[in-house]
Amino acid sequence: MSDPRPIGLFDSGVGGLTVLDAVARRFPHEDLLYLGDTARLPYGTKSPETVKRYSTRAVAFLLARGVKAVVVACNTASSLALDEMIALSPVPVIGVVEPGARAAVRAAAGTTAPIAVLATEATVASDAYGRAIRALEPGRDVLHVACPLFVPLAEEGWTDNEVADAAAKRYLGPVAASGARVVVLGCTHYPLLAATIARALPAGTILVDSAAEAAATLVSTLPEGSWAPAGEEHGETHLLVTDASARLGRVAGRFLGREAAVLELVDLP
Ligand code: DGL
Repeated sequence: MSDPRPIGLFDSGVGGLTVLDAVARRFPHEDLLYLGDTARLPYGTKSPETVKRYSTRAVAFLLARGVKAVVVACNTASSLALDEMIALSPVPVIGVVEPGARAAVRAAAGTTAPIAVLATEATVASDAYGRAIRALEPGRDVLHVACPLFVPLAEEGWTDNEVADAAAKRYLGPVAASGARVVVLGCTHYPLLAATIARALPAGTILVDSAAEAAATLVSTLPEGSWAPAGEEHGETHLLVTDASARLGRVAGRFLGREAAVLELVDLP
């Protein structure tokens, strides 16, 4: 029997729509319920306690709406609060860090240079990617670089101009110097700057985006037969946000690559 409940996705804002897009491509017939905590964004500059509090409340909200799984699209929430979110959930909760680490280790196979991880300050401080990579490959060095300005640049749509180039050059100098040739885009917003990031790094550097890998992880996590039957009909996407400014529709469209679907304003405790 297929399970008609939607798949839940959670992010601190609308950056996680890059992950929603990957899930929608992989599971076109599933209904998706996305919650972006836009009123409290950014998470990436906040303390672990605050990120845990916000993240568990957001997941509790999605559970109350009857989702059959939760994909935590936010790297910061996945890094700092995954255990707490799993502990309160009767359905599977999948973060993006472990899938991203797995994809990076696969891409770096046969090489010895460090793997670089670009992320928010909170994700970098947590060393979550470092732990996940070393769990898969104990000897591998991991170089973390916080790139906080990439978040507002992506939201503004300044992903491919001289300001973005200058920021990328400044942030990524140490990555190029380290010899790293596999670089994890460890933040929802960074895939939008992929071209600029690639330009600031040596030719041939592999950029790892955890979105597709996280979507693939869903397949092995949900019980056999719980998927919506493949038919003509596409699933519905519902976007919930905790703050809906006029700017949000524009920004959301940028991440989703098309007009944003219906936005519903909700309040989290
Ligand atoms: N969603 C966050 C992440 O992936 C980036 C935005 C924020 O700082 O809240 O880490």
